[in-house]
Amino acid sequence: MAKKRILSGMRPTGKLHIGHYVGALENWVSLQNEYENFHLIADYHVLTTSLRNDDIYQNTIEMVIDWLASGLDPVKSPIFRQSQIKEHTELHLIFSMLVTAARLERNPTVKEQVRDLKIDNVTYGHLGYPVLQSADILLYKGEAVPVGEDQVPHVEITREIARKFNNVYGDVFPESKALLTRFARLSGLDGDAKMSKSLNNTILLSDSPEEVQKKLKKAKTDTQKQRRNDPGRPEVCLVFTYQKKFNPEEVTEIEEGCKSGALGCADCKAKCSEKISKFLNPIIEKRNYFENNLDEVKDILADGEKRAKVVAVATMEEVHKVMKFG
Ligand code: TRP
Repeated sequence: MAKKRILSGMRPTGKLHIGHYVGALENWVSLQNEYENFHLIADYHVLTTSLRNDDIYQNTIEMVIDWLASGLDPVKSPIFRQSQIKEHTELHLIFSMLVTAARLERNPTVKEQVRDLKIDNVTYGHLGYPVLQSADILLYKGEAVPVGEDQVPHVEITREIARKFNNVYGDVFPESKALLTRFARLSGLDGDAKMSKSLNNTILLSDSPEEVQKKLKKAKTDTQKQRRNDPGRPEVCLVFTYQKKFNPEEVTEIEEGCKSGALGCADCKAKCSEKISKFLNPIIEKRNYFENNLDEVKDILADGEKRAKVVAVATMEEVHKVMKFG
């Protein structure tokens, strides 16, 4: 039996951080044996929030290096840019007729983005980016989409569009399901719920042990624990969430030490930095390899784009046929 197909996508924001790894990449890597995966670089999506992106190509390459360093296998799964496969924009146009403006205006994720970025007048393209995302997914007939909570509304829209298309023209598309990432999002170093480049609260996958140590020293902890012997509350401490992820072997001991006061924040942070760097070490090694072999990275993209294109063209032929364009 053919493997089920997965479509995973990410915006090219440059070097990735440990939040990307925990919230997405780790999951993508673990899925690549069981499913047929397509890994999309959503470079057109960047336009929704930023019109001039002179570094887009450089950011794409940095991100692909992090994907590869984290264990994505480009032989198993094509890695490709949305902008290089024209069929995305074509299917997006067709899909844009199958969803109402009111439906898109109700999308909680877009609403939140508009609010957070203080956008007064949302563009047609920004409002419609979930429709482009639907095209990303359905062009490859992705049955499952590994995403975090915030992207679930987009997968719902994708399903509705697929249903509408199939009803009007005939069965072409699957009804895609969201595959929720197991580990919750990692919070940022400042305690913000989101680790994000724009908030400057990240640990990058490429950070050296010295950088990790320096960043963690400044990380927010339980504000009630002022000095070593004060009892702490690991359940409200940001560093403890990192310990749970990167230092599971010592987590019980750390929890007890923190609560009793025996373990001070500085020592806890030192342990945590060490574990994070140990985790990052093989990623950094692979990263260095690809940074020194950029042609290989470009070949991987070219190959992925060739393979993705074949599938995209076949789907569009089917679409044109059922729509009677010929
Ligand atoms: N919308 C996603 C984001 O903003 C990126 C994305 C674009 C995506 N196309 C996709 C994610 C297809 C999953 C599937 O992060």
